[in-house]
Amino acid sequence: MRRLTTFTMFGIAAVGVLAGTPAATPQAEAAPSAARIFSSKCASCHAPDGKGSIGGTPNFQDAGWQSSRSDASLTASIRDGKGNLMPAWGKELTPAQIAALVKHIRAMKR
Ligand code: HEC
Repeated sequence: MRRLTTFTMFGIAAVGVLAGTPAATPQAEAAPSAARIFSSKCASCHAPDGKGSIGGTPNFQDAGWQSSRSDASLTASIRDGKGNLMPAWGKELTPAQIAALVKHIRAMKR
């Protein structure tokens, strides 16, 4: 009986994990960690939707702003910081994570 209970509990847990898997859209698959990093480390200043919340942050949704920056310059700004308020993330994030964040920011364009 005890074994059966353990097995049943395992079964329920497994179903819970599977049910918690997000619906697989290609975009969500491409950058799940970037979205998580953005909401934990960036959204406090840039807002969850990327429009910016503190003074001086660009609006990542703005097509004009997007086309005014190259991927290389966004990468450099994230890695090395910019101005007085944008921190440098190069010590905390890997180049792959920074590249994923650039993609994530590009995907915010409306
Ligand atoms: C403490 C507030 C703050 C945090 C946290 C922050 N930023 Fe910024 N960010 C800024 C500000 C302010 C600017 C505008 C800097 C300027 O143009 O002088 C900026 C600018 C940027 C830019 C545009 C740079 C350019 O070349 O114009 C990018 C891209 C960016 N941030 C990405 C991120 C990412 C990714 C994170 C999280 C890993 C992050 N920021 C976290 C404040 C912040």
